Amino acid sequence: MAKRDHFGSKIGFVLAAAGSAIGLGAIWKFPYMAGTNGGSVFVLLFILCTILIGLPILLAEFIIGRKGQADAVTSFKKLAPRKPWFVIGLAGFFFSIIILSFYSVVGGWILSYLIRAITFSLNGTSETFYEDLFNSVISNPWEVIVGQGAFIFLTLWIVSGGIQGGIEKASKWMMPLLLIFFLVLAVRSLTLEGAMEGVKFLFVPDWSYFTWETALLALGQAFFSLSVGVSAMITYASYLPKETRLGNSALSVSLLNIGVSIMAGLVIFPAVFALGFSPNEGPGLVFIILPAVFEQIIFGQFFLILFFVLLLFATLTSSISMLEIVVSIGIKSKYERRKRAAWVYGILIFLIGIPSALSFGILSDSHILGMSIFDFADFFTSSFGLPLGALFISLFAGYVLTKSELQNDLKVNQFLLNTWRFIVRFAAPIAIIIVFIQGVMKLFV
Ligand code: TRP
Repeated sequence: MAKRDHFGSKIGFVLAAAGSAIGLGAIWKFPYMAGTNGGSVFVLLFILCTILIGLPILLAEFIIGRKGQADAVTSFKKLAPRKPWFVIGLAGFFFSIIILSFYSVVGGWILSYLIRAITFSLNGTSETFYEDLFNSVISNPWEVIVGQGAFIFLTLWIVSGGIQGGIEKASKWMMPLLLIFFLVLAVRSLTLEGAMEGVKFLFVPDWSYFTWETALLALGQAFFSLSVGVSAMITYASYLPKETRLGNSALSVSLLNIGVSIMAGLVIFPAVFALGFSPNEGPGLVFIILPAVFEQIIFGQFFLILFFVLLLFATLTSSISMLEIVVSIGIKSKYERRKRAAWVYGILIFLIGIPSALSFGILSDSHILGMSIFDFADFFTSSFGLPLGALFISLFAGYVLTKSELQNDLKVNQFLLNTWRFIVRFAAPIAIIIVFIQGVMKLFV
C-alpha cells in the first residue's frame, strides 16, 4: 500500500484550499444571486454569514481533517469510534456528487465561451447579442452535454493523475493574474457613465428586501463559496503535516473569498446599470455582462481569451476538490485504485448532470418545487445539504473534540479559542437552525 500524499508546504495547502474555495461560487454565483435577491441586503448577509458562521466551521473542517489524517468517513470513525458521526462524511460524498453534477454544466459553458473567444466570435453586433448568444448556447443540447463531459474529463484527468500539485503550482500565478484582471475590469466598469447606480445596488442596504429566504440563500452561498459542509476541506486538511497554523489559513481563505466576490460584483453591477441590462438575469449574468465589459477596453478580444483561461483554471481547482472527496472516500486507503475510481465517479457524475445540463433547453418545462432541474440541484445542495452538513460538523467540533486537545491543535490564546468554541457549540448551530427552518418554511407555506 502506497503512502498517503502530503502537501509539501504550508503555502501549498493554503493555495489548494483557496483554489477549492475560489471558483464559480464567487465569480459566477455570487453576482447572480445578489442580482436576483435585492443586491446589498444579500451582500451584507453573505459577508456576515461568511465571517460569523462559515469561517469557524471552515476551521472546524481543517482541524478534523488534520487530526484524522484520512478520508472524511475514516477521519470521523477514527475520532469518534463506534459513533454515527461518520454519516457526515457519507452525506458529504453524496452531496459532492450532486454539486459537481451541475457545477460541471457551468464548467462546460465556460469551455463553450472559451472556444468562441479563441475564434473571435464573441463580439457584440447588436443590443441583445450577448443575451441571445447565452440563450442559444445553454439551450443547445449537444453543446451543453459535450461541454459538461469535457469539463468532467479535465477534472478526472487531473484527479486520477495525481498532477494536482502541478495545477496548484500553476494557480500560484494564475490566481493573482485573475485578480489583476478583475481590478482592471472593475476600474473600467466603474468609470462607465451611470456606474454609480450599480455601486449603490451593491452597498446601500434597503432592509425592506430582507426575507428569511434571502438569509437562507446567503448562508448557503457562504458555505458554497467556502467549500464548507461536505467535508471537502476535511479531505484537503488530511494531507497536512501536523504543524500548520490552521486559524491563519482559514482566515486567509475566508477573506480572499469575500474579496473576490466583492470584486466580481464591482465588475458586474456598475456595467449592468451603465449598459442598460437588468440585474436579475439569473445564471447568465456573468456570461452576458463580462464580454460586454471587455468590449469597452482596448485589445478586449485578446484579453477575453486570457480571462476565460484563467476562469477555467479557477473553476478546475474547485471541481477537483469535489471529485477528490468522492474518490478518497470511494477508495479508502487503497491508493492504487485512484485512477479507476476517478473514471467511475466521473462518468457517474456526468450522467447525473445531464438533466441539469438540459434544463435550459429540451427539459425547460420540467420543474421540481417550481424550480428548473438545474436550480433545484443547486437549491437542494446549497440551501439544504450544505447547511445541514455544516451544522453537524460544527456540533462535532464543539462537543466531541475536547478543549485540551483543541488547545494543543490550535495553539492560539484562550480568548480566541473560547470565542471559536462558543460559536461552534452554540451560536452557529442556533443560527443555522433558525435560518434553515424559516427559509424552508417560506418555501413550502
Ligand atoms: N467553493 C467552490 C466555488 O465557489 C465550489 C466548491 C468546491 C464547493 N468544493 C466544494 C462547494 C464543496 C461546496 C462544497 O466555486
